[in-house]
Amino acid sequence: MSVRTGSRIAVYVVMVASECAPAAKAGGLGDVVFGLSREVEVRGHAVEIVLPRYEHMRYQDIWGFQVSYEDLWVPWFGGAIRCTVWFGFVHGRRCFFIEPHSAENFFGRAEHYGYADDVNRFAFFSKAVLEFLLRTNKRPDVIHCHDWQTGLLPVLLYEQYQQHMPWQRVCYTIHNFGHQGVTGDWVLWASRLGRLEHFTHPDRLGNGYGAVNLMKGGIVYANFVTTVSPQHAHEVRYSDQAGGLGHTLYVHERKFGGVLNGVDYETWNPETDPLLPTRYTADDLTGKYHAKARLRHRFWLRERYGPIVAYVGRLDQQKGMHLVHHAIFHTLGHGGQFVLLSSTGHQQDVNDHFWWLKNHLNDNPDCHIEIGYHEELAHLVFAGADILVVPSMFEPCGLVPLIALRYGTVPVVRAIGGMIDTIFDRDHSLRPAHERNGYVFHHTDEHALESALHRAISLWFSSPEDFRELMVNGMRADHSWATPGQHYVDIYDFIRHPG
Ligand code: ADP
Ligand code: GLC
Repeated sequence: MSVRTGSRIAVYVVMVASECAPAAKAGGLGDVVFGLSREVEVRGHAVEIVLPRYEHMRYQDIWGFQVSYEDLWVPWFGGAIRCTVWFGFVHGRRCFFIEPHSAENFFGRAEHYGYADDVNRFAFFSKAVLEFLLRTNKRPDVIHCHDWQTGLLPVLLYEQYQQHMPWQRVCYTIHNFGHQGVTGDWVLWASRLGRLEHFTHPDRLGNGYGAVNLMKGGIVYANFVTTVSPQHAHEVRYSDQAGGLGHTLYVHERKFGGVLNGVDYETWNPETDPLLPTRYTADDLTGKYHAKARLRHRFWLRERYGPIVAYVGRLDQQKGMHLVHHAIFHTLGHGGQFVLLSSTGHQQDVNDHFWWLKNHLNDNPDCHIEIGYHEELAHLVFAGADILVVPSMFEPCGLVPLIALRYGTVPVVRAIGGMIDTIFDRDHSLRPAHERNGYVFHHTDEHALESALHRAISLWFSSPEDFRELMVNGMRADHSWATPGQHYVDIYDFIRHPG
């Protein structure tokens, strides 16, 4: 259903994902689903978002939460699971939340992910979304799916629902090739796809030895596939970063591309951020120094002359945790203070190490380690820190450094993925001086990190004016959703009217 408005066509998009900030967010995926949806709407299109109904959502961020559809029976294995579908506005976005009344209590758990039956939970969700669209006569022009959790949806759409939804097109965005939803062929029975030999063929969902890969299914069956930066789109095609899906991307390269994520500047903006003690702009940074004082106070750091270096992110090997560890001690040894805000992940050794570090540094007046997920605290850390380290092993986009730029916090990053597209070294980049916005290193060893972090800390001490210029360069760069939002609208147009 499309409405022609003047020379432009309004598109009806249903976004399907496992996260939407701030109601249900574990990382950058949630930010993207919210920010992109807002931008597409601002451009005159209609967007609805479908999510699981997690028991642990931030219900204070959902307005008008109410039952929208009572008895949605979703076929699963030999029977069917009854679902209730809820509706509510998440800061203005129209969201539906699917609540399965399954014996396993799929979404009534403490975390979004990390359970042995994750594939079962989200494969079921994908099927439930299509059943919901079918029963409620919703016929979006485009279904925009995200990550492995919704990889099965385009497969089901074309193999099971085509008769009822012949015109629906799918855009599939991959945020992280590190998690692909690899499982056994039971999922083909569960979802009633059947035809094991057909679907486990390597040209479809087959992952070798009878295994099924949901992300592969998403790539093969979607009308267009994106990842979240041009550089990462290149890396997954030409290096080993696609986690085994490089060949599939090669086969489907004509419908694959990279679109750099934006940042939602209504959420992340020091000029309007209600979570800061004082707002500030690139022309008047006074409020940033208030935030620094508040951050020290909040984390029991002593007042002293020196930069605060921060890390914000999941505790996960992806993020280069051995280098984060090193950054802490390098900073403390060179006159700085360190703040870490991290939520625990599913790698127990990494969690244990940082819990140990927290105890070890507990009485240090120059370091604070905060383990947990705290949306409000994240704003204070981005504003109050001077420097932020992101030493990732791989990073499809990296929203954390982009948010840091907006808050005038200088990023020190590894040259990988989206950070190659966005962060330009003050001393070594070939870009014009006003575009240089941080420090970059290449290798994964401690010396490499030091080569960049040391330059950042030294500039802070030796040349405050130059450091300030770097901060302002970052604040003035535009990483809003305006341009990427238009790119996605162009993709929606393209898949609806190819050629
Ligand atoms: P990823 O999606 O791989 O986790 P990104 O850099 O793209 O990495 O996005 C991370 C998002 O999650 C950012 O919005 C960041 O502020 C947020 N975040 C990460 N860890 C925490 C935490 N412990 N508390 C609050 N927000 C966090
Ligand atoms: C992922 C990636 C991160 C990206 C985010 C949002 O989880 O790890 O680099 O910014 O998704 O697309």
